[in-house]
Amino acid sequence: MNTIPLNKEKVDQIISDNKIKSVGKASIREVKKIVDDIEKATGISFVRMEMGVPGLPTVKQGVDAQIKALQDGVSAIYPDIYGTEELKHETTRFVKNFLDVTVPEDACIPVTGSMQGSFASFMTVARMDEKKNKLLFIDPGFPVQKQQCKILGIDIETFDVYEYRGEKLKAKLESYLQTGEIAGIVYSSPNNPAWFCFTEDELQIIAEVANKYDVIVLEDLAYFGMDFRKDYAKPGVSPFQPTVAKWAKKYILMISGSKAFSYAGERIAVIVVSPELYDWHTDYMKKYFAQDTFGRAIVYGSIYALSSGTSHSVQYGLAAVMKACNDGEYDFVEALKDYKNKANFMKTALVENGFEIVYDKDMNDPIADGFYFTFNYPGMTGEQTLNELVYYGISAICLDITGSDQQGLRACVSLVPHELLPAFAERVKLFNENHKK
Ligand SMILES: Cc1ncc(COP(=O)(O)O)c(C=O)c1O
Repeated sequence: MNTIPLNKEKVDQIISDNKIKSVGKASIREVKKIVDDIEKATGISFVRMEMGVPGLPTVKQGVDAQIKALQDGVSAIYPDIYGTEELKHETTRFVKNFLDVTVPEDACIPVTGSMQGSFASFMTVARMDEKKNKLLFIDPGFPVQKQQCKILGIDIETFDVYEYRGEKLKAKLESYLQTGEIAGIVYSSPNNPAWFCFTEDELQIIAEVANKYDVIVLEDLAYFGMDFRKDYAKPGVSPFQPTVAKWAKKYILMISGSKAFSYAGERIAVIVVSPELYDWHTDYMKKYFAQDTFGRAIVYGSIYALSSGTSHSVQYGLAAVMKACNDGEYDFVEALKDYKNKANFMKTALVENGFEIVYDKDMNDPIADGFYFTFNYPGMTGEQTLNELVYYGISAICLDITGSDQQGLRACVSLVPHELLPAFAERVKLFNENHKK
């Protein structure tokens, strides 16, 4: 039982005990539970790539400042709903230093993770105009954001961008926006799950189409700066993290602390609302909000209703991290390069053993190595590949659940320990030997 491939009957029994017909169809949490059970029963450590959780320690400056804030007694006091002065100030500097975009401090609003940032944004964006009440997701994407829309009763449109990179994006976006029903466009770049990064040209296209149809762009920067092909970590110095904010009039940027600063446990992010959107008002919004502008509605309407602000102490923590980045004292990208190195090793091992990278290019450039990658075994569906890989002590999730039309799997490198990398290479080699035609 404790050799690779694992005993099929035993593994199948565990899968069936979990009431799952096919691992390839299971959700992230279901895959996690099945793998936990197989590891326990076999004593074999899996190369676990299903969960997208950060695997590095939180930035020290943040932890120190947060401890001090707690010792100073902030936990006893409600935080201001629009955020602490320090965090708003450092976010404005951060946006200028690393995106080369100028925004006022008012526009920078802390939230309890980008998860809450998107929830509050969706519920506000879709309630500004009676006719424009749908969101358009440029897929593949982060499944839980669609779950948020479902809970909120917001209708969505989606398309897989795989066939629509570059100039083709324009007509594709217009085909949705022309209906006059789309309130906002949502995407992440670097992308979860496919790790592609929109180029400046593509971001400009998104902005121009959005401006033409007066649509809000929701840019999810959960993986800020993590396109390791470029160094985006020098404050105030080009190159800057590409962003739609350079061209779009109405936008919301979501800057999460979770991955860039390994701050996932404290649930902290900042949303940045463009000045034009902040001041925007409509008659229709009065049905939902007592406030008369978008900026005030999202703060005093949506965020107030959700959590009355963001945990006080971690706002000091994130402000300290951003200050260290802004002052050039901390290079947040350097600290994350472990993800790049692991991805490079794992992608190479896969390609050398017959697998393919699915989303493999940003226009003409090979995709970056980073937090996620997508892969598949030729001749198999993504579901079949995952179902088979489980016998080889490797887990991931199927691209099907991310809105992708491509066959394949999403792998997250963060939880794979370096010690297991040689075993990973051996396992994919064995898989190939047993499956190649
Ligand atoms: C694209 C994307 N957006 C948002 C989040 C959630 O971020 P946070 O931890 O700040 O809620 C994630 C986390 O995996 C993500 O991948």
